[in-house]
Amino acid sequence: MKLSKRISVLFVLSALVFFGVAATKPENNFKNLKVLPKDISHEELGKIMHDFNFALGVKCNFCHAGPKQGEEHSDFSSDEKPEKSIARSMMKMTNKINKKFFHGKSKIGDANAVIAVNCATCHHGAPHPEIEQPKPEEEK
Ligand code: HEC
Ligand code: HEC
Repeated sequence: MKLSKRISVLFVLSALVFFGVAATKPENNFKNLKVLPKDISHEELGKIMHDFNFALGVKCNFCHAGPKQGEEHSDFSSDEKPEKSIARSMMKMTNKINKKFFHGKSKIGDANAVIAVNCATCHHGAPHPEIEQPKPEEEK
């Protein structure tokens, strides 16, 4: 191979590596995802968080710590509130129920996820689901 040809082959290869790396770099700026896919899009994460709000009948600050001093927005990456850790375990539990008992192939956060059991299945709009056994109707 001529030198000039070798150089251009090298150039094309390094360009492929460069763009390959750029393409797999996550496009979000989330810093502390341990259960959701690290490369989840802003849109998808936002949808899941709003679903949590509705399923539990709460606002974002039920799980997320308030702003750091001098900042305006909640500190979403912080693990300060125990509710956030409980929510992580609940996500793992929900994923496990779906996989083990419903032959589910998706996890919370997957693109086009099909999920049989979700947070609302148990929570029905309350942070703490009522666990009282329903009373039978009066017998006839
Ligand atoms: C029921 C609890 C709960 C509620 C309510 C909730 N979140 Fe979250 N949020 C979490 C958990 C748990 C994680 C971390 C998930 C993981 O580790 O994969 C998270 C992660 C995030 C992150 C990523 C932070 C980072 O840098 O890693 C953002 C941003 C976020 N939530 C925003 C919101 C917004 C906005 C709302 C309200 C619309 C909201 N959340 C409501 C539990 C909650
Ligand atoms: C199989 C039923 C079930 C599913 C599914 C479920 N949860 Fe729960 N969750 C519960 C029960 C029951 C409790 C109350 C536990 C207790 O009494 O200590 C609870 C408690 C919680 C709490 C603590 C509330 C508090 O008052 O401190 C959070 C946060 C939570 N769940 C988030 C979630 C999220 C987010 C999802 C979906 C990813 C989810 N849960 C799915 C049954 C469920």
